Amino acid sequence: MKILKMILLSTLGLYMTSMLQADEFTQKDLDLWMAEYKIVVKEGRKVFTDPKLGTNTVTCNECHPNATNTHPETYPKFQKQLGKVATMAEMVNWCIANPLEGKKMALDDQRMTALIAYITWERRGVKLEPGKH
Ligand code: HEC
Repeated sequence: MKILKMILLSTLGLYMTSMLQADEFTQKDLDLWMAEYKIVVKEGRKVFTDPKLGTNTVTCNECHPNATNTHPETYPKFQKQLGKVATMAEMVNWCIANPLEGKKMALDDQRMTALIAYITWERRGVKLEPGKH
């Protein structure tokens, strides 16, 4: 019985180790994923400065040059314009609908992902402060 238990435990141990190993990335993976990420950041910069995103030629960059005053590190937080605790994507949609007089995007729209990738890249290294104003 004791031996059976030992075999069972060591098999489980081996299984867990192999699961952990599945999470180890090669340098090639890391380089590839970073390159993919940078492409999306670049795309985000394009959307951020695109006068055709809304209907009135205003761009995000005019009020938030190089993503200033976007504070991604404070989300989710209560936003008075939305009257609730919201994600940054919801606030981006508020800016699309109001200052840009455009159509809100689906939250999983690839352009939304790109905008968020760009904004957070510009603010990289800033300490996370969720909820802060
Ligand atoms: C006419 C100026 C203007 C334009 C253009 C504009 N915004 Fe804003 N943005 C604002 C104002 C005003 C706020 C609200 C500030 C607040 O209350 O936090 C804001 C808030 C934000 C926030 C949240 C900032 C925070 O501190 O919580 C984000 C993120 C943001 N805008 C992104 C964008 C994006 C992306 C675009 C383009 C789609 C855009 N904005 C276009 C004026 C603008």
